[in-house]
Amino acid sequence: MSVDFDRSRVTLVDHPLVQHKLTIMRDENTGSKQFRELVKELALFEGYEATRDFPLEDAPVTTPICETTGKRIAGRKVAIVPILRAGLGMVDGLLELIPAARVGHVGMYRDEVTHEPHEYYAKLPSDADQRICLVVDPMLATGGSATAAIDYLRAQGVKDIRLLVLVAAPEGIATVLGHDPDVRLYTCSIDEKLNDAAYIVPGLGDAGDRIFGTL
Ligand code: URA
Repeated sequence: MSVDFDRSRVTLVDHPLVQHKLTIMRDENTGSKQFRELVKELALFEGYEATRDFPLEDAPVTTPICETTGKRIAGRKVAIVPILRAGLGMVDGLLELIPAARVGHVGMYRDEVTHEPHEYYAKLPSDADQRICLVVDPMLATGGSATAAIDYLRAQGVKDIRLLVLVAAPEGIATVLGHDPDVRLYTCSIDEKLNDAAYIVPGLGDAGDRIFGTL
């Protein structure tokens, strides 16, 4: 059964390099070191797309040749908010792109039986409500953790939330977009479906275990 969602709210970051790297990540023989590096690289590609609409302002600059007017980002403040623990793997790539960003954390664990998310830790920058929040988690499966994290951020007054995942199941996308009318989603792949254990198919397995070598 196909799952419907509004594709105009989803940015598919499917650059050829992204697709190539994602295939290496899917390979069960790829070890933790390479997997971690690839998570970081794909986060950087996604960050590039997720910041595409940042406004610019004129910036005078003197080159070795003459004075001219360049452009600089016009004061959009950013918070990167990884959903623990797998989201941590995406933070460094985004910080390379946006070094001035602050990092908040939202800790969710998934009940192995009910698959329901439970929040066990949250800490945001004090001015999070003034920032664009890039919520990051490599896998969007049922959407439970993502919607719980989004609810938490909305309750803190965050207005601009962008969810960056690497692999998404259609079920998770529909859940997140249906839950919050304003969140924007970025993903490198929309996979086929969830299996009975709520893993993404074909997916890449448990991203947290592969990042941290806890298989
Ligand atoms: N979380 C993961 O790490 N992988 C999945 O396939 C689903 C949830």
